[in-house]
Amino acid sequence: MASVTFAKFNASSSQWIGQQSFSQRQGSSARFPARRVSVPIRAGSYSEELVQTAKTVASPGRGILAIDESNATCGKRLASIGLDNTEPNRQAYRQLLLTTPGLGEYISGAILLRKHCTSQQLMERSLWTACVKRKLCLASKLIRYGLVPLPGSNNESWCQGLDGLASRSAEYYKQGARFAKWRTVVSIPCGPSALAVKEAAWGLARYAAISQDNGLVPIVEPEILLDGDHPIDRTLEVAEKVWSEVFFYLAQNNVLFEGILLKPSMVTPGAEHKEKASPETIAKYTLTMLRRRVPPAVPGIMFLSGGQSEVEATLNLNAMNQSPNPWHVSFSYARALQNTVLKTWQGHPENVEAAQKSLLVRAKANSLAQLGKYSAEGESEEAKKGMFVQGYTY
Ligand code: 13P
Repeated sequence: MASVTFAKFNASSSQWIGQQSFSQRQGSSARFPARRVSVPIRAGSYSEELVQTAKTVASPGRGILAIDESNATCGKRLASIGLDNTEPNRQAYRQLLLTTPGLGEYISGAILLRKHCTSQQLMERSLWTACVKRKLCLASKLIRYGLVPLPGSNNESWCQGLDGLASRSAEYYKQGARFAKWRTVVSIPCGPSALAVKEAAWGLARYAAISQDNGLVPIVEPEILLDGDHPIDRTLEVAEKVWSEVFFYLAQNNVLFEGILLKPSMVTPGAEHKEKASPETIAKYTLTMLRRRVPPAVPGIMFLSGGQSEVEATLNLNAMNQSPNPWHVSFSYARALQNTVLKTWQGHPENVEAAQKSLLVRAKANSLAQLGKYSAEGESEEAKKGMFVQGYTY
């Protein structure tokens, strides 16, 4: 596996070049001595597979179903329909989602929580097996440990879990995982501080390199939380800063861009801002940010929904796909795919079929939005309800 050391030669212009040098080309300026500009190559024996996996997940009309909520968060969902937060209830709900007939037409991957599949006994009838065996989708596990306070910051957090990540990733690969997710958060009302942004970007880049080294396509997710009363321009400014740092460190870690997927927040005004933005405005700002910061080598942009209503999340995605993009622009929603399903199910076995149908309705709506062909006509009132929760933890 070849890797390259980079040397910064002009801090103010932020330009980077490789360290080894060729002989000076004729006519090259003294300020820019000719040097070998090497392309970072990483991911070694897995590189072809990583590229293929990323392309499969980011295939036309398909996106990701995220069901990697912590048990505590899943418990809050269950409580909203009057169910206790017990293992059988969580398992029944997740089974319902993953065994929906025909889901694979619109869903290319599912993100599961690491803890879903810890014991061998559970593995036998696990969601994991449902994913892998039914060829519903490629399955993935969340492999981080969690957010904890970041000392020295402005009440911000950082994401733990790099220790031992290589061996865990290798184990997940053996079990059938082909991609992974690492979510860290950035809070606009808290600053964000330069320290928190740097820590988030560095952690994501280390995780991405380790994942690729073990055959897993990393989903890179610095979630910029919706919390705050700031205007959309402020979100754009922060998102540009965050993604520029993320890509800076991804490059420093020699991550293969063709073998990653991104999971950004859409660029919207803060949830408490006095004015709401239209899907067209959100699409314009979000695509502006992506075009400025994300190289076209990246195959897929799989948005999180972040507390938007199901319909909002779908409309915004649709607006972003009205003209061709250099990347597959799609979804990796949790709340915006699950809300109506949960309300339809209510924990009753006789409602499972109807709940699965409602999941298919949402998955198909987002599939159409990925193709830029969605219309919100006939959407239910439930699907229009916002799901923003202040200080949301996943
Ligand atoms: P939401 O779509 O509910 O914001 O979930 C995002 C997420 O990070 C899931 O992986």
